[in-house]
Amino acid sequence: MEQSAYLVIDDLTKVYERGQVVALKDVSFSVTKGEFLVIIGLSGSGKSTLLRCINRLIEPTAGTIRLDGVELTKLSASRMREVRRGIGMIFQHFNLVSRSTVLTNVLTGRLGYTSTWRSMAGWFSKEDYHLAMQNLERVGLKEKAYVRADELSGGQQQRVGIARALMQQPNLLLVDEPVSALDPATSSSIMQYFEEINRQDGVTVLTSLHFLSLARRYGSRILALKDGEIVFEGRPNEIDNVRFKEIYGEESEEVEVR
Ligand SMILES: Nc1ncnc2c1ncn2[C@@H]1O[C@H](COP(=O)(O)OP(=O)(O)OP(=O)(O)O)[C@@H](O)[C@H]1O
Ligand SMILES: [Mg+2]
Repeated sequence: MEQSAYLVIDDLTKVYERGQVVALKDVSFSVTKGEFLVIIGLSGSGKSTLLRCINRLIEPTAGTIRLDGVELTKLSASRMREVRRGIGMIFQHFNLVSRSTVLTNVLTGRLGYTSTWRSMAGWFSKEDYHLAMQNLERVGLKEKAYVRADELSGGQQQRVGIARALMQQPNLLLVDEPVSALDPATSSSIMQYFEEINRQDGVTVLTSLHFLSLARRYGSRILALKDGEIVFEGRPNEIDNVRFKEIYGEESEEVEVR
C-alpha cells in the first residue's frame, strides 16, 4: 500500500521583519505518517524556525503547510489552537514551570482541553490525574510526581517534558534539540523514549538534532538545512564525508559527531 503524505510543506518561507533575516527560503518536503525525520544543520540554519512554523508558533511569511489534509496556514486562530492540541512540542531547555511540581507540569499538557477558569483554579479531572501518573510512570518518574521541577536533573526534566507532551495524546511530535543540554549517556536514554513513542504509538516525530551520530542512529530520514534552504534529504547512511562537508562546511571535522 502506498504511504500517503501526512505533512506536506510547500515553498515555506520565513523572513523575520527585524533585521530582514531570511530564516527559511522556499522549503518544500513531505512526511509520511509514522516517520522519524531528523533535521540537522549549523546553528542559525533555520531548524527551530521550521519546527515552530509547522504549528504556527511562528507565523510563516509565505508557503503552505498541510497536515492530514488540513491547510494550517489558512486556519483561524481558534481552529489553529484546536489543531495544536494534537501536536506535542518538546524544547531544548525543557520549558518547565520550575517552582511547580512535576505532576502540575505534566498536567499543563492537558490545558488545551480544559476551560481557562478550570485550569486557573488548578482543576483537573480524575482522568487527567490518572493519565498524568501513567505518563510519568512511562518515563520512569512516578515517584517524583510531587517534587518541584527544578529539583530534577536535566535528563529528568526532559522526561517531564515528554510526559507533558504525551498528555496531548499527540499524532505529531515537534522536538527541538531535545538533548543539546544533556550528556551523551542521558541523551541516548532520552532519544530512546522518542524512538519508543514513534514505534509503539505510531506518533510521527520531527526532531532537530545537533549531532550527526544521533541523527544517523534514530532518524528514518534526514533533512539538512543550510542558510534556510534544504541541502540534503535522504537516508542516514547516504551522508558520507562529502555530504557532511556540504552541510556543515569545509572546515568542519567530525567533531560534530560524538
Ligand atoms: N525572532 C527572531 N528575530 C529575528 N531573527 C531571528 C529570530 N529568530 C531567529 N532568527 C534568525 O533566523 C535564522 C534561523 O534561526 P533559527 O533559530 O531557526 O536557527 P537554528 O537552526 O534553530 O539555530 P540553533 O542551532 O542555534 O538553534 C538565524 O539567522 C537567526 O538569527
Ligand atoms: Mg534552534
